[in-house]
Amino acid sequence: MATAAAHRTARADGTADADAAAYEAVFDAAVAADERIEPRDWMPDAYRATLIRQIAQHAHSEIIGMQPEANWITRAPSLRRKAILMAKVQDEAGHGLYLYSAAETLGTSRDELLDKLHTGRQKYSSIFNYPTLTWADVGAIGWLVDGAAITNQVPLCRCSYGPYARAMVRICKEESFHQRQGYELLLALSRGTPEQHAMAQDAVDRWWWPSLMMFGPPDDESAHSAQSMAWKIKRHSNDELRQRFVDICVPQAESLGLTLPDPQLRWNEERVHYDFGPIDWTEFWEVLKGNGPCNEQRITQRRRAHDEGAWVREAAAAYAAKHSDGTRAADGHAGTVGGASAHQAGENGEA
Ligand code: 3HC
Repeated sequence: MATAAAHRTARADGTADADAAAYEAVFDAAVAADERIEPRDWMPDAYRATLIRQIAQHAHSEIIGMQPEANWITRAPSLRRKAILMAKVQDEAGHGLYLYSAAETLGTSRDELLDKLHTGRQKYSSIFNYPTLTWADVGAIGWLVDGAAITNQVPLCRCSYGPYARAMVRICKEESFHQRQGYELLLALSRGTPEQHAMAQDAVDRWWWPSLMMFGPPDDESAHSAQSMAWKIKRHSNDELRQRFVDICVPQAESLGLTLPDPQLRWNEERVHYDFGPIDWTEFWEVLKGNGPCNEQRITQRRRAHDEGAWVREAAAAYAAKHSDGTRAADGHAGTVGGASAHQAGENGEA
């Protein structure tokens, strides 16, 4: 049977002129056998383009997602909450790093991807175009937004593209911590004073529907799902994952003592799932077009942070150049000093 490993051997043998159909057959066989496709393996152009699109969108979501929460670091109600929130926001920067690195293995550069984000040619998740109005929003983001992210991203640990799948393993572990801190924060508010309980309920009311939209459009309007599932980039459809998320959240909301803002939410014995009300897809598409409550603020802040971080990137690049004569490894600075970390240093402040 043709495998990715066999394909690697073929390449090493110098059979680069083998016809595209043969390469494609090897690629298809590797995907069918659940092997990982690695950066130096042959892959269809459209597979590469789809991965760059999805991984870049994912990376952009991680770094834009730092803004709404960083907004609350200075106002966290205790030192413990502040330390937890700082760690979480820092994790998101790390997730951006892993994902930009994964995208770079496909032959694009981080500068190019950031330029596409800043000029509106690549997207980031719709969810981060909503404001964080109260402290309870930090809890609702952890519980619902990170919860939705985990539901969507755990299957990505089995994505057919190796670097993306491996990056997702660590990201999902950290997202689990984020989800739990959000749940614990909301539980404390829900069991607090009537005002605190009301604040938690208000946050859940505002974040519930946008969280359901994170999974993307319904399956019959999802342009990429069928092909991405055939390539095993995605393992489940948007609607399947959305349903899974609803089924997880209903009992958790009961434990929290909070209600989900959907009068049509009820258990369906036949489907063995919760039914839920219609999603406002007009709102979703408007947010994607740039007309959400915070689109302009988010991208303006991102561009400003990038510009203000230029000196850090220049300094790090100069430092890396100075030490590129082999002394880097010796003095313990091998790796990311002039590259990965420098790119995001100084870029993630909130307006
Ligand atoms: N926000 C913005 N755009 C979205 C979207 C969303 N929630 N859902 C779908 N879209 C866009 C798609 O990118 C596509 O547009 P394009 O052709 O211009 O790229 C269009 O809507 C049609 O959607 P499809 O269903 O055809 O797109 P996909 O097959 O790519 O599925 C997806 C969308 C489920 C979001 C998929 O891309 C995916 O699983 N991505 C990886 C996960 C990810 O990006 N998560 C970001 C969440 S936030 C996060 O992780 C941060 C953490 O800290 C919470």
